[in-house]
Amino acid sequence: MPYDTVDRPEIEIMIHEFYTRILEDETVGPYFIRALGDDLNGPKWYEHFNTLYNFWVLIMTGKRGYGGDPYPPHAFIGKLYPETFERWLEIFHEVVYEYFTPEIADKFYKKAEILAEQFMDNLGVNDEDDDDD
Ligand code: HEM
Repeated sequence: MPYDTVDRPEIEIMIHEFYTRILEDETVGPYFIRALGDDLNGPKWYEHFNTLYNFWVLIMTGKRGYGGDPYPPHAFIGKLYPETFERWLEIFHEVVYEYFTPEIADKFYKKAEILAEQFMDNLGVNDEDDDDD
């Protein structure tokens, strides 16, 4: 049964599953492995998970905890392409709709889409850009 409420415990379970699938993905996985390694139980991932739990708790419930800016790290993790974001969103979509009722999943996914769009704008990553620079 998908969760019909959203708070930190449900977020932790879903987010952990999301990154488990991300690490297995050929397109998006390598960015995370380069930045944080491939051991989801290691100290780097422990910290990253905590940041992400706080981030999504703030977005989905308004509860404080995350006080950062999600964009900056993405400028330093290697060149990102529209396909990288598409795949990230595809996996996120898969997981949120598996774990949450559609109404809650919609909210997660809309927020992720908006942020992905903003990151792409900030990074100059977009479909019309055919240059290979
Ligand atoms: C192409 C897709 C993406 C890739 C490859 C990617 C990769 C990464 C990596 C490797 C980090 C860790 C950087 C570090 O600590 O050294 C990170 C951090 C983070 N990402 Fe992404 N990301 C992507 C899209 C997104 C999207 C769409 C969101 C939001 C919905 C997001 C939210 C975050 C947040 C909140 C952090 C933590 C920022 C902080 O430290 O305060 N990412 N990302």
